[in-house]
Amino acid sequence: MSDLQNSAPAARPEIRVEGAVKSFSGRVVVDVDELVLGDQPIEGLIGPNGAGKTTLMRMIMHSTPLDRGRISMHPDGPGGEEIVLSDLPTFAMAGRGLVKSNQVIMDFDRLTIWDSLLFAVAGARCERPYRVFAEHDLFDAHEDEIRGYLAYFGFTDPMGFAQSAGEKKLLDIVRCLLLKPRFLMLDEPTAGLPDELTEKVMDKIRELAAAGTAVVIVEHDLNVIWSLCDQVHFMAEGSVILRGTSEEIRAHKTVVEKYLGEGHV
Ligand SMILES: Nc1ncnc2c1ncn2[C@@H]1O[C@H](COP(=O)(O)OP(=O)(O)OP(=O)(O)O)[C@@H](O)[C@H]1O
Ligand SMILES: [Mg+2]
Repeated sequence: MSDLQNSAPAARPEIRVEGAVKSFSGRVVVDVDELVLGDQPIEGLIGPNGAGKTTLMRMIMHSTPLDRGRISMHPDGPGGEEIVLSDLPTFAMAGRGLVKSNQVIMDFDRLTIWDSLLFAVAGARCERPYRVFAEHDLFDAHEDEIRGYLAYFGFTDPMGFAQSAGEKKLLDIVRCLLLKPRFLMLDEPTAGLPDELTEKVMDKIRELAAAGTAVVIVEHDLNVIWSLCDQVHFMAEGSVILRGTSEEIRAHKTVVEKYLGEGHV
């Protein structure tokens, strides 16, 4: 085998959703017959408010249990090992390389920025997790990386608490990056961020994808989607109704405008 082949990154992971259904109070909010994510380096999941995008991502993470169906991941690409995600507990996901950022951030109120990130990288390595803040090895191992991300995103007071919703969004993204995902799902990562930070998030996503991570992004700012994504899935009323390149989705002007309103394509 040549050096080039030896150094080639492993194939991107793939997630398969089959017959996945979820209802709340008798109302079906997700009903996805068949969906493959990870076919392309960066994929978008778009659709109107309430389409089921967040619920579908939560079903993949098994933080929302399925009523029926099956969700699996091939961490080394199709044909390799298969992990049935819908059989795994949520806490085991990151250990298999699957990480998700959250649309509504409910973490980070009780820990400082720095401690939140140390806690994230500590994972399950500590028998007594509350001791992570005194573990110099852990601090030393991650200090440069954490400092690098915090400087990149412009955090000015890492020893303080995350203040704004935007700062919490960015902190959640840094948390995901520190976990070195092989498959990363981002739920509205740039919502509420100024343009300059949106660009920085987009650059990081491109960098990750180029290094072999599969990225799926939910976003209402379609400029982000059109410029980032190699493939887009359009969800409406719980199902994926369109799939294609940005150009192909935009060509379905009437469908997209029906759900998202005029001016989005
Ligand atoms: N825990 C829950 N209990 C009851 N209904 C829920 C729950 N979670 C979501 N829903 C409902 O399921 C539907 C889909 O919601 P979801 O949050 O998945 O949509 P979304 O596509 O992410 O929308 P948005 O773009 O506004 O974030 C909505 O009608 C929502 O009200
Ligand atoms: Mg949502």
